[in-house]
Amino acid sequence: MPTILANGQVFIDGKLQRTDIAFDQKIQAIGKNLLGEPVDCLGKIILPGAIDVHVHFRDFNQSHKEDWQSGSHAAVRGGVTTVFDMPNNDPPATTVERLQEKRRKADASLVNGKIYGGLSAENVDQIAEIAKVVDAFKLYLGDTTGHMIISDRALQKEIVHRVAETGKVLAVHAQRGGIAPEEITAHEAKDLQYAIELSSQFKAKLHLAHVTTRAGVETILDAKRRGLDVSFETCPQYLFFTTEERSKRGAFMKVNPPVATAADRDFLWEALRAGKIDMIATDHAPHTIEEKNLGMEKAPSGLPGVEFVLPLLLDSVNAGGTSLEQLVKVCCARPAQRFGFPKGKISAGLDADLVVIDMNLRKTITRSEIASKCGWSPYETMTLQGWPVMTFVQGQLRFRS
Ligand code: NCD
Ligand code: ZN
Repeated sequence: MPTILANGQVFIDGKLQRTDIAFDQKIQAIGKNLLGEPVDCLGKIILPGAIDVHVHFRDFNQSHKEDWQSGSHAAVRGGVTTVFDMPNNDPPATTVERLQEKRRKADASLVNGKIYGGLSAENVDQIAEIAKVVDAFKLYLGDTTGHMIISDRALQKEIVHRVAETGKVLAVHAQRGGIAPEEITAHEAKDLQYAIELSSQFKAKLHLAHVTTRAGVETILDAKRRGLDVSFETCPQYLFFTTEERSKRGAFMKVNPPVATAADRDFLWEALRAGKIDMIATDHAPHTIEEKNLGMEKAPSGLPGVEFVLPLLLDSVNAGGTSLEQLVKVCCARPAQRFGFPKGKISAGLDADLVVIDMNLRKTITRSEIASKCGWSPYETMTLQGWPVMTFVQGQLRFRS
């Protein structure tokens, strides 16, 4: 017997509509007087599950930071039903065998787990084979956690060429690392431009990870005007934090690329309202409290985020900072379109990845309730209005508050 989400307001075709949804694994029907087991959603809104194209669910030798079970639990609590996991694991996810092992972990998790193939000097010749087991590729042109940087220019070209031939999206970490945060920020536009030129030579489907600055966004918008095949994400940390928080919080605000200026943050919000941000991904990069306590110099960089991105944005919708329409575009519709799979909207025949939201529920983020294994969040103590109360992944109830 199908489940019916009844009496709620459902986000369809760009707006909320008062209707019901019947589903099992897939959405069967949308309308009134549907047959099935009703779940009363009076006063709630129903959105497509969020798609986060940038998470680090660790596992393997770093399962003390996160694993697929804890990471996917955090995700569904936050209304995220699909994640794309990065390859900078220990050991790195660069071989067919390891990627197949990751695929098994992803399939056993609470979410739709998609995976990036890592690229290295050793696996260039296997890119076509690896393409059969991954959903997309990830190239590091800047140094960060996991040290998967490819610096050799001839090798960069060879890799981009071969990935382009697979037709898969090539996500690139373009921003340089290993220098003062202010310098990384100052160089972002130039570093993005380099990745754009490199991938345009081979007509790769470029996706630029974690864009932080106004100059960076403008560089990408310019490339789009030139007709280049490029998309980008920004992340909640760049919408909510700036250098001010970094000076106060030290290693607990240490992330690659670093949080930027207040002017950059304000621009990102403007761009979001103007529909110029392609997508919001979290770069959920959990490191433990002990590791972060090592201090600014020694602590690893990265912030967790998959659990709270939707509440943060729903709170902004409530406060008038953005619209529900933009939220669904950047968190659901565009990630699915860009990475090429049929999700990100509520429509009969699609997987029943659905989030029921109470836009009036107010909750404070507290450490004791965090599901991520890292056990902390940069958003702790924030009180947000607008929270998922139920999350369905392929029709299965994976979270209920
Ligand atoms: C990420 C991590 O910890 O894996 N760290 C980070 O600061 N964002 C790696 C990355 O995405 O650069
Ligand atoms: Zn990352």
